[in-house]
Parts: sequence; C-alpha cells; structure tokens
Amino acid sequence: MKVRIAKNKQEFAEFAFEEMIDVIKNKPDAILGLATGSTPICLYEKMIEDHKANRTTYKDIHSFNLDEYVGLDISNDQSYVYFMNDNLFKGIDIDKNNTNFLNGMAKDVDKECARYSKLLSENEIDIQLLGIGSNGHIAFNEPGTSFDSKAHKVDLQESTIKDNSRFFESIATTPTQALTMGLSEIMKAKKVLLMANGKNKADAIYGLVKGQMTENLPASILQNHPNCVVVVDEEAGSKL
Ligand code: GLP
Repeated sequence: MKVRIAKNKQEFAEFAFEEMIDVIKNKPDAILGLATGSTPICLYEKMIEDHKANRTTYKDIHSFNLDEYVGLDISNDQSYVYFMNDNLFKGIDIDKNNTNFLNGMAKDVDKECARYSKLLSENEIDIQLLGIGSNGHIAFNEPGTSFDSKAHKVDLQESTIKDNSRFFESIATTPTQALTMGLSEIMKAKKVLLMANGKNKADAIYGLVKGQMTENLPASILQNHPNCVVVVDEEAGSKL
C-alpha cells in the first residue's frame, strides 16, 4: 500500500489526479469505479479542468458507481446519480449510456443487486476510487460486513446516518438504507485509490494502514490489495 500525505488542499487534489489520469492516459477505454461524498469533489474538478484544457477524452470510458441510497429518485439532488452528473459527468464528454449505477428505487432489491454483481463480474475495473466513512466503511459496507460480500442492501449505522445528515434537512429525512457494491467486488479492481481528509477520518485511516485486518474496519481489507494508493491530508494522516 502506498500512502501519500498532502501538505495542502491543492496537493491533495493533485496527488489523487496524478493517480487517476495515469490510468486514463494509458487506457482511453478504461473502466472507472467512481465514488460520491465531499472528498472526491476536488479530484472531479481537476478532471474537468484537464478535459477542458488538455482535451482528455472520456468518450470510450465506462464507469460503475459504488453505491446509492434506497428510496431517492435520481431527480433528488442527494441521489448519487444526481451527484455524479452534477460534479463530474456534465463537465466531461463521457457517454451517459456507459455509466452504471445501482438503482435505489428498484422494486426487487435482490434482483437489482444480482444484476449489478453480474455486470461487475463481466467488467474489470481499472481504477476504483474510494472515500472512507469515519467508522472505516468503504462504499456503504459498514463494520461487520463480510469480506466476501457482493452487491447488497445495507441498513446504515447510526454514525453514518449522522455523518450524512449534513446533506439533508434533518436526521429524520436522511436515508437509512442503501445499496452498495460488495467488498469482494471492490477488491477485484486492478488499482484502488482511496482519498481521505479531515480529523474525523484519522482513526479510520490509522486502522486501514496500520491496524489489524478485520471486518470491524471494512477498509482494512485493502491491506491485501496488490495496488492500493491512499491519499490523505495531514489531519487524516495525523495518527500514522
Ligand atoms: C458515504 C459514501 C462513501 C463515502 C463516505 C464519506 O458514506 N457512501 O462512499 O466514502 O460517505 O463521505 P465524505 O467524503 O463526504 O466524508
């Protein structure tokens, strides 16, 4: 595992961008695993900037997003489809038909997760971008999730609902369930790029890099990944 500690916001975005663009330049038809949350926004801004300045094209790129809330329509500005359109897709030339999401409005959730798992088994992700929850979750794989897990429905933990409530009117209106890619599927990506910033991520980053590998801290599974890069700011890396 390679850990890069950024001295400031600019370097944080640059380090992540370097890892991402390296894959895209070497493989213009790469499959990207994409993430939501506040952390990767600075990377998406750089990708848009680069697309405009250097004409990097995404016309042959495909993408798979990690997760989606249950019960939010894609027109809801907190749905992850909306987030991706707003923060990345509308600024680059990706073909929306080449972007894949779990459908949080699906009537038959098990069938929907099986559909996504089948697609993931047929498509090898070249780079999987990840954030991390303050409790060590990746995507929405909460502590206790099996390392063998595939796409599934999750009951979100109190701490995650609380963390995410900052994007909603109140805790009461924050979704309590989500669909997520599983840990075994994340591990199949050729390269993993995990980004984390801020003090509230320091314990999770310590556990991921130096702690014991345990299902109680889902991100620790990445200790077993052959090509994982962790980009942190000084606060998130403060316990390393
Ligand atoms: C949610 C997402 C995760 C993300 C996490 C951290 O739980 N499902 O994929 O990593 O939030 O979000 P943030 O980057 O806003 O701290």
